[in-house]
Amino acid sequence: MNRDENNYNNLNIIEKFKNHPIIHDLVDWKMLNKILKENNIKLIDFVGKGHRGVVFKGFMDDKLVAVKVPRLGGKNTIYHEGKILKEINTFGVAPIVYNFSEDFLIMEFVEGIVLKDYMNQNDIDKEELLWIIEETLKQCLRLDLHKIDHTEIQGGKHIIINKNINKIYIIDFDKAKKRRAHNFTCAMALFFGRCHIANRVKGIFNISESEERYIIKLVKNYKKIILR
Ligand SMILES: Nc1ncnc2c1ncn2[C@@H]1O[C@H](COP(=O)(O)OP(=O)(O)OP(=O)(O)O)[C@@H](O)[C@H]1O
Ligand SMILES: [Mg+2]
Repeated sequence: MNRDENNYNNLNIIEKFKNHPIIHDLVDWKMLNKILKENNIKLIDFVGKGHRGVVFKGFMDDKLVAVKVPRLGGKNTIYHEGKILKEINTFGVAPIVYNFSEDFLIMEFVEGIVLKDYMNQNDIDKEELLWIIEETLKQCLRLDLHKIDHTEIQGGKHIIINKNINKIYIIDFDKAKKRRAHNFTCAMALFFGRCHIANRVKGIFNISESEERYIIKLVKNYKKIILR
């Protein structure tokens, strides 16, 4: 089928977003419409915004996708993020990137709960939490070994847990740097250090002070031997 014949009309929904209380003046709407048209995406909803990007949800063929566009007035790091994602997708980290340029990033839409919110729940299953920690640490190790530093692991707001498909996703690589990476040590601090999430983890697993000292020693050794 000719691509043009299959284009969706997103103008109505875009018109609505032009009056959106939060994002009305943060997006180049004409550009967004062009991007959606060229990539044959049906726009569904606004998902979230950060300091640099505004993220929408849409359908590309039968795939649910996230479309990240640069925030007007913010630093445009979209192309950089697309390139990093493409590289780390090759070793199974982060949402799959489908297409990107200076103006947009189209990637797999990640569903699930943000680690920060997950940790605020009352009944946390130990086995499940262990899986989350293990899987996050493994992905951080892979990033370290490929020398990609996410730089924001410690906040816990970029780790998303999708229980339906048993996957953990690390998102938002716009500040990522290609250098000696500290993802693993940051994730260890997030889970076992001094922050709110760590206190919760240590409480749930009843980690003793001597175990904590052992963990700190492990991280020091990792820094000394592996990150050398
Ligand atoms: N692939 C995705 N799938 C689903 N939701 C996403 C995806 N990427 C981003 N989001 C959502 O959009 C929000 C904003 O995205 P993101 O954090 O990448 O923007 P940002 O401008 O880089 O933010 P920051 O100011 O934190 O750097 C996220 O908090 C998340 O809720
Ligand atoms: Mg960001």
